[in-house]
Amino acid sequence: MIKNIVNLMRRSSDREVEESEEVLKASLDTTRIPRHVAVIMDGNGRWARRKGMPRSFGHRAGVESLREAVRVSAEIGLKVLTVYAFSTENWKRPQEEINILMDLLVEYLNKEIDELCEKNVKIRAIGGIQELPPKAREAIAVAHDRSKNCSGLNLNIALNYGGRAELVEAVRGICAKVAENELALEDIDQELISRHLYTAGQPDPDLLIRPSGDYRVSNFLLWQLAYTEFWLTDIMWPDFKGVHLVRAVLDFQRRNRRFGGLNK
Ligand code: IPE
Ligand code: IPE
Ligand code: MG
Repeated sequence: MIKNIVNLMRRSSDREVEESEEVLKASLDTTRIPRHVAVIMDGNGRWARRKGMPRSFGHRAGVESLREAVRVSAEIGLKVLTVYAFSTENWKRPQEEINILMDLLVEYLNKEIDELCEKNVKIRAIGGIQELPPKAREAIAVAHDRSKNCSGLNLNIALNYGGRAELVEAVRGICAKVAENELALEDIDQELISRHLYTAGQPDPDLLIRPSGDYRVSNFLLWQLAYTEFWLTDIMWPDFKGVHLVRAVLDFQRRNRRFGGLNK
């Protein structure tokens, strides 16, 4: 009996979330959809702890939020969604937690790839992919290959990603070309540096979302965030639903971006 009531309550609150997502979506300005949204998927561990559960429970729940974010991003017509899944600093965590995160990544890619392809989502892993465990590298290679002709949402999954490491890689790549006389010093400009980053060919993020109540970039997209709008929230990533992404985009649409200039 109590279980039924709880289920009923849950179903009606799910409906409310869905409804408000639809209502909010309808109020979006379709001429001002950000092209690129970046998300630091943070707060899984604390979310689980608060429920008296192991951190892995939070990571699993976080995958659901990722699914939601991808769905809504495709629905509202984002060009690029970049999600921070594993940083170059996350290797400091216990090996057991790292293994769980890698297993979840493989499971996500294997399970979702058909649906992602159906939704026309193109997957790109950004970061030091060669340092990931073989099974993760394999799943990424398959996802890349399967989605290579997709032309809808570009989903960047940042794995073993660090903004500083990315810049080091770019500097190395550029220096090698200078040493080989493929490039002259004068050729090095901001555009060339952007082309040597993992996000080459993609616009910089218009909007960065960080859940979990922490106010920092944690080595994410250091170059690309130069003029990005930030949306920070106390909501933990596993509680972050489609409706929150729509809210963030709506808020973004009210921002006045001056890029150092003056109001128009
Ligand atoms: C984000 O959640 C997932 C990764 C960093 C891989 P956390 O695991 O950082 O969760 P908190 O921040 O400890 O709550
Ligand atoms: C940022 O979260 C990295 C990811 C979400 C993958 P962290 O939990 O690693 O960041 P800090 O340690 O709070 O800065
Ligand atoms: Mg964290």
